[in-house]
Amino acid sequence: MIPLPLAPLTPDEAEHEARVVARIRAELDAAGGWLPFARYMELALYAPGLGYYAAGAHKLGAGGDFVTAPELSPVFGRCLASQVGDVLAALGGGEVLEIGAGSGALAVELLGELARAGAAPGRYRILETSPDLRERQRQAIDRLPAALGAGVEWLERIPAEPFRGVVLANEVLDALPVERFRIGADGVEALGVGLADGRLASVARPADAALTAAVAELGVSFARGYASELCPGLAPWLASVTAPLAAGVALLLDYGYPRAEYYGAARDGGTLACFHRHRRHEDPFVNVGLQDLTAWVDFTRVAEAGLAAGLEVLGFTTQAHFLLANGFERHLAALRATLPPEREPLAAPAALKLVLPSEMGERFKCIALGRDYPAPLAGFALRDFTATL
Ligand SMILES: C[S@@+](CC[C@H](N)C(=O)[O-])C[C@H]1O[C@@H](n2cnc3c(N)ncnc32)[C@H](O)[C@@H]1O
Repeated sequence: MIPLPLAPLTPDEAEHEARVVARIRAELDAAGGWLPFARYMELALYAPGLGYYAAGAHKLGAGGDFVTAPELSPVFGRCLASQVGDVLAALGGGEVLEIGAGSGALAVELLGELARAGAAPGRYRILETSPDLRERQRQAIDRLPAALGAGVEWLERIPAEPFRGVVLANEVLDALPVERFRIGADGVEALGVGLADGRLASVARPADAALTAAVAELGVSFARGYASELCPGLAPWLASVTAPLAAGVALLLDYGYPRAEYYGAARDGGTLACFHRHRRHEDPFVNVGLQDLTAWVDFTRVAEAGLAAGLEVLGFTTQAHFLLANGFERHLAALRATLPPEREPLAAPAALKLVLPSEMGERFKCIALGRDYPAPLAGFALRDFTATL
């Protein structure tokens, strides 16, 4: 396949990129000319006022860089609402904490569907690091009937006080910074960031003790030359966002695999991907601060992190199985019945992308982690692949 050329930047975008690169170069110089990749990814995505998620890029949706499941079809949020409603009912009521709510599309559908089912949460809180996405979410919630939007609150940090209910994160795990590594002749190498011909570039150096140990802890027998990623920040992140969950369930959805598949022999170049204006490519050193950087999720790491945080794995399955088990067909039929004739024919093709194996159905997974939550979850009734983790 001949790669498409990257979309050209506008003068404003080029100026923004130059500012982001200058910020990263300053830190690179101060650090002696080399940065761990996770630090580079953190700056490119989250440096205040500069990073992709911290500055004004449009990001999600048709006019942005990528489309997520809640953007694709309302059926996604409505199926999730079925599962969330069950959990809140089993707990005798509770609240929802959504992490990284993007455009707010999932919150809008969840709140609408839960209200229709007579199962509105006591409170719906959103923890969002991106100031402009927070504003976009506010605008989306403002378009809801006032009674529905009234229970929504935005948080700057993880709440300290305990609550019962659901923690929800769709496509947030893939946005956590990862370290890149390669198996060299003399051991593990860190694929960090330095300069080549005056430009930011991937530069290898022997891994420090922490990265060497983290690669060994994967328990995978890698061939020489194998390169991939791991996410050292995942366990502390998961522990922090679930810390206030006194009783209930964390539902995490994202693209990824169990570890054995993630680090399979065929995937020897890793899973890092960059998204710019709906084009996927593999160069993290272009469009710096203007493109999304993501890595697929090692769901075995998520399960381990959950256990370390005192949670129990309640289920792990594909997005297709999870949605089908939560009333996908019923929700699609209900949606179609309410759409005007010119939009109705588009509803099924969009929703089917959520479940088709060739689209999002198999690559995307859902894992449920519970605390003090004994009831079975409907989403894993069709197939539960927990044993593959
Ligand atoms: C790929 S987008 C997914 C958005 C949304 N959940 C969806 O499915 O459309 C990632 C989201 O996570 C947010 N985010 C990334 N890291 C975060 C963190 N550590 N805490 C809270 N939000 C975070 C981003 O700002 C963005 O809203």
